[in-house]
Amino acid sequence: MPKTDEILIEAHEVERVYKTGDTVVYALSGINLTVSQGEYVSLMGPSGSGKTTFFNMVGALDFPTKGDVLLGGRNLLDLSAAELSYLRCVNIGYIFQNYNLIEVFTALDNVMLPMRILGMEKKEAEQRASDVLTRVGLGHRLKHLPGELSGGQQQRVAIARSMANDPSLLLADEPTGNLDSETGHEIVQLLSELSDEKGVTVVSATHDHRMLDVSDRVVYLRDGQVERIVSREDLDISVGSIGDEQ
Ligand SMILES: Nc1ncnc2c1ncn2[C@@H]1O[C@H](COP(=O)(O)OP(=O)(O)O)[C@@H](O)[C@H]1O
Ligand SMILES: [Mg+2]
Repeated sequence: MPKTDEILIEAHEVERVYKTGDTVVYALSGINLTVSQGEYVSLMGPSGSGKTTFFNMVGALDFPTKGDVLLGGRNLLDLSAAELSYLRCVNIGYIFQNYNLIEVFTALDNVMLPMRILGMEKKEAEQRASDVLTRVGLGHRLKHLPGELSGGQQQRVAIARSMANDPSLLLADEPTGNLDSETGHEIVQLLSELSDEKGVTVVSATHDHRMLDVSDRVVYLRDGQVERIVSREDLDISVGSIGDEQ
């Protein structure tokens, strides 16, 4: 992977507490993590371990109750609403388990949307969206609606949309969660290739052990804490024990 020494993400003592009536849940309790530009990091852990909560913190979709998240050296808590909107539209691409495509828009229109929000002229956005869709293998499905595409194809549209504005960070929350094994593997490969080609940083929350092949590091979460971090070089040795976890 074209990992650089430049730090993109810094999480310092990140805590997220949910209070629901009398119940208090420590979804994250003191996460420290640094991710370099161009790195591919998988967040692994059992259901409820805090993967989505952490993903939301890094993606500026939610904020810590304590601690800080810095992106490109800037503390997300210091950004204005307008700066946060810009960051979410331009610097970060989001991929979700359920694709989250707009059902009444064609594949092309779904991918054009983030470009049009930024004010890109229609012809240029069309050309660019068509190029990105071709890159993810969907050049022959530009005018299809999400309902006319398979799960794997819908996830490819979502990946194309996430790349629309050339983000420096791709956040993927269980991107293969709804896909069969072979399609899931293709999606993981595609994310890995895009990460290599564009030098884009990928943080992917996953249950899926196929993600291990392409990860520079795997961060294991348990009960809202970092249990351990395994880097690529050490993955082969411990893959057996990793495979037993869910
Ligand atoms: N909006 C919420 N309100 C209350 N508790 C929540 C909320 N979101 C998540 N939690 C709790 O926080 C913990 C971590 O959840 P989550 O980050 O979704 O885990 P994961 O993505 O690893 O399955 C779980 O115990 C979950 O029940
Ligand atoms: Mg989750």
